[in-house]
Amino acid sequence: MTDTELLEIASGAMKNAYAPYSKFSVGAALLCSDGTVFTGCNVENASYGAANCAERTAIFKAVSEGCRDFSAIAIVSSGGGETYPCGICRQVIAEFAPDLRVILQNKEGKPVSYNFKDMMPYIFSL
Ligand code: THU
Repeated sequence: MTDTELLEIASGAMKNAYAPYSKFSVGAALLCSDGTVFTGCNVENASYGAANCAERTAIFKAVSEGCRDFSAIAIVSSGGGETYPCGICRQVIAEFAPDLRVILQNKEGKPVSYNFKDMMPYIFSL
């Protein structure tokens, strides 16, 4: 699975985004160590705080299906350019995958990858 392929899967997932309030669609594709890919999109709500981000949708789908060993996550948005995971999603990533590779799409549509540890040093964990 190449970074470009994972970004393409995230783009497909973004089509299912439910974002009538922000009009900002996000898609994520989470690659598990066994090769399984779980997708996610943002799901908003009239009670704004009840919204769920694309990354957490994908992670919660994976964990609820018994997968907790993740190697990479690709994230795309309708905003164009690199869309970094929000603080709450970073905390959820930190719980399961502090070594995750985070693949974003730059303005030219090319993959750019980061080590999650560089994006979120000094994580909170029990
Ligand atoms: N959003 C995500 O899905 N992932 C992020 O990392 C940033 C924000 C969503 C939440 C909300 O539905 C919309 O983008 C605007 O904030």
